[in-house]
Amino acid sequence: MPLISPWRADFPAIDALQRQGQTYLDSAATAQKPHALIDATVHYYANGAANVHRAQHLPGAMATQTFEDTRRKAGEWLNAGASGQIVFTHGATSAFNLLAYGLEHVFQAGDEIVISALEHHANLLPWQQLALRRNLKLVVLPVTDAGVIDVEAAAELITPRTRLLAVSQLSNVLGTWQPVRQLVALAQAQGALTVIDGAQGVVHGRHDVQDIGCDFYVFSSHKLYGPDGVGVLFGRHQALAQLQHWQFGGEMVLQTGYRTATFRPAPLGFEAGTPPISAVIGLGATLDYLNGLNQSAVAEYEACLHERLRAGLMLRDGVQVLGDPHVALVSFVVEGVHNADLAHLLTEQGVAVRAGHHCAIPLISSLGLSGAIRVSLGLYNDSEDLERFFSALDGALEVLR
Ligand SMILES: Cc1ncc(COP(=O)(O)O)c(C=O)c1O
Repeated sequence: MPLISPWRADFPAIDALQRQGQTYLDSAATAQKPHALIDATVHYYANGAANVHRAQHLPGAMATQTFEDTRRKAGEWLNAGASGQIVFTHGATSAFNLLAYGLEHVFQAGDEIVISALEHHANLLPWQQLALRRNLKLVVLPVTDAGVIDVEAAAELITPRTRLLAVSQLSNVLGTWQPVRQLVALAQAQGALTVIDGAQGVVHGRHDVQDIGCDFYVFSSHKLYGPDGVGVLFGRHQALAQLQHWQFGGEMVLQTGYRTATFRPAPLGFEAGTPPISAVIGLGATLDYLNGLNQSAVAEYEACLHERLRAGLMLRDGVQVLGDPHVALVSFVVEGVHNADLAHLLTEQGVAVRAGHHCAIPLISSLGLSGAIRVSLGLYNDSEDLERFFSALDGALEVLR
């Protein structure tokens, strides 16, 4: 039975790509955008762009109002509770860098930062470099064969020396949900700060920061069908209060002379300079669009499509699926076939998937691989997309074997 996405027509690029002979299966890298976002961006630019938080004039007041409305909507999307706990960044990567610099002062030599073996470089390198700067120890939690962070091992490795835990909610390579609530509880029992990388998880229905109980939660708008150039850092009030200012300039300052200055608290104190105004406004429109969808229908549809993808891959001779993927994406390798050669032939046939290390070199290396193919789904994909992928895959494997 065909699976037809009721939301496909909301994303004009999907049709446009199809007219160019392209089947888009790389939404975990970046997602296509709904009309709602495109219209809101055009409306903002066509009706008067203005800077935020600065001007008295009407365009400035309107832009500020829409910008701050998005802050509220982002907080609601994460069930953040009290307002003022959302900082806009330029993406997930810049949020992690903000944290790694903003929290540097809380660490003392010998303290431990705990991450996991499956982290994206964005949630590895800022902590690795902080550890090198401050002579800290980076502790890496192991991952089971199913692709899930090993909670029993974590219970041993998270100790009174742990100062911070930073782990992914949904693996961008393995498509596995991580036991973030348990890990956060373990870390908090030792008095550590907790950071969740929600870059993938936020897209697929689990985005309740109060339920997770973390201090910080990070995501990029562009993977959530929103514009690129903007990310969201949620921080609990007490956690945000621990951050040291790290980027300096307009609007983050309370008072300054030539020699000294005082700075605003979060959120504005961490949004130095002109923020990505149109992107924030676009994110607001995207969240309105997503809020208008039947979330359980989306989850059910995504689960069916994912199962079809996973089952189809597992049926094929020599295909090895990485881990035990739960949602959104499947990564795989094929015995005797280099992932780059396969990706090349898929690309030639107009199938847009991702190949390589997926910005998780340590994980891919620990699996004894140089890379893998990742097929990732958005709510606009349908079973015809999968059929086109499988037919291209079969054709490519015939050539390569
Ligand atoms: C799990 C995960 N974390 C962090 C990032 C970094 O996101 P960005 O490049 O938007 O900063 C990504 C992007 O692929 C990701 O998948």
